[in-house]
Amino acid sequence: MTIYGILVAAGRGERFGGPKHLIEVGGKSMWERARDALLHGGVDELVIIGDVPGGIEGGVRRRDSVAAGLDVVPGDASFVLVHDAARPLATPDLVRRVIDRLLSGGVDAVVPVIPVRDTLKRVGDGWVLGTVDRSDISVAQTPQGFKAATLRAAHAASDDDATDDAALVERFGGSIAAVEGEAENVKITFPGDVALAEALLR
Ligand code: CTP
Ligand code: MG
Repeated sequence: MTIYGILVAAGRGERFGGPKHLIEVGGKSMWERARDALLHGGVDELVIIGDVPGGIEGGVRRRDSVAAGLDVVPGDASFVLVHDAARPLATPDLVRRVIDRLLSGGVDAVVPVIPVRDTLKRVGDGWVLGTVDRSDISVAQTPQGFKAATLRAAHAASDDDATDDAALVERFGGSIAAVEGEAENVKITFPGDVALAEALLR
């Protein structure tokens, strides 16, 4: 059973101030950290999207870059993991957890999540409007795992944008299991996040 991985590293990093996949965390670039976590966690074949050795060209939106990856994953592939190069601290354990849940059956997709810790407020025009019931609110991470056929169908079903692939599968009506994410698995979005990742690594 071959597990395919799609590592997306083709973003423009607008909030970061430029492409960020080559930025080093703990002396190793983000995309290489993300790659190695996938390979050490059980991904057999990896497609990398972005301007790295062996990488293929991405698209305008994240979902377009994932689609470029799906285009080169063999048509008879059963399972695929999609991971952000912007998450350099995801561990092989997390990758394994996602794969194990995916292979245990009965699900179209698997998403690692962390329950929110903070109190959530609805805010508008400088006023607090109310408090959100956070009892069933979690933060989603990558790597996310999918039945390859479902992910392809979810991509084909609509061209609307989405910040992750699970959202496409949700709209498509797929079943999505949640597994425990990792608090350290932060996404590097702004320049200050690099120092946070360095600190977490120490
Ligand atoms: N990504 C991609 N192709 C895109 C957009 C995003 O491969 N067209 C990848 C990024 O390289 C990153 C991951 O998707 O690894 C998560 O995206 P994000 O953190 O939003 O990165 P950017 O889109 O590069 O940043 P920004 O949204 O600030 O421009
Ligand atoms: Mg983005």
